[in-house]
Amino acid sequence: MNLKEEILKLKEKLDVTVVAHFYQRDEVFELADITGDSLELAKKSMEATSKYILFCGVGFMGEGVKILSPEKRVLMPKIACCAMARMIDVDYFDESVEKLNKAGITKDDILPITYINSSAAVKARVGEMGGLVCTSSNAYKIIQKGLQSGKKILFVPDRCLGQNFAKAMNLKSAVIGDGTNLHEADIICYNGFCSVHQQFTVEDVEFYREKYEDILIAVHPECDPSVCDVADFVGSTSQLIKYIKELPIEQKVAVGTEFNMVNRLRKENTYILSSTKPECPTMNETTLEDLYKTLKDIEKDQKEPYASEILIDEDRAQWARVALQRMFEV
Ligand code: 13P
Ligand code: SF4
Repeated sequence: MNLKEEILKLKEKLDVTVVAHFYQRDEVFELADITGDSLELAKKSMEATSKYILFCGVGFMGEGVKILSPEKRVLMPKIACCAMARMIDVDYFDESVEKLNKAGITKDDILPITYINSSAAVKARVGEMGGLVCTSSNAYKIIQKGLQSGKKILFVPDRCLGQNFAKAMNLKSAVIGDGTNLHEADIICYNGFCSVHQQFTVEDVEFYREKYEDILIAVHPECDPSVCDVADFVGSTSQLIKYIKELPIEQKVAVGTEFNMVNRLRKENTYILSSTKPECPTMNETTLEDLYKTLKDIEKDQKEPYASEILIDEDRAQWARVALQRMFEV
């Protein structure tokens, strides 16, 4: 059986939109109807008119679609959870608020912003507290909006993104638990990170700069601030793609983000900013076989939930939706 052909036939026949993030394996990515960064995928999936959304990505992305479009049936071939999103749950979030409280920073002094890479439960808690969601492509605007409240921002879960945007906006940041001064900070970050983007180091940048004098360095804002500080460009996955595609083909560029995306970007003069192969293990879990099996499930059009279907309790979804909608309003 030719899986690709079978998948194409099923897609043609079924009322389904296949969505894939840029970090998906090539063979999965090329069969998607919608591709993009986290923000684009959330928006475009919401606009899709099909009954079913088949989402190839990580858990928080599929959850986001279900929260925003509860009437759609969202299935994920692998409900793989982003490692960074798993670093914070509601208890850890509440503990962080409590730690700030003990330091004399009360709930009323803070406005929480959660990176979209977080669970529905964390988004809901943030929504309940008057906060909102951001992605790597709109964090600047969202933080600006948050600061209009006159409060400090509690930024979860990605320490690097919080610190990088604080620097870019000339603001002071601190990280809970690392001894930095919380009172002086405009942005207080939770100490989470992406293990894939931690693989890019200043030494990698130095290596490429020594090897190719005129090389450009482009990285994702989940990279450590020490790396972003010495990069030529910092942007979300879509912003990186746009930046690199607009470079003259003879311009060398080393890119600090997930391997699958970098590998398909440009055939020539494009390097991965690492001596390792920085694949996101959870993004990589989805295979063509998974895609095929999920489409075969959808073919049954059953009333009962599928094993791979995203279901979110409406009480939780309500506040998470508020936090997401506040982001779209900005
Ligand atoms: P983007 O929103 O830039 O696509 O990033 C998502 C992500 O998880 C990067 O690791
Ligand atoms: Fe999560 Fe990092 Fe994978 Fe992005 S690359 S999905 S932040 S683990």
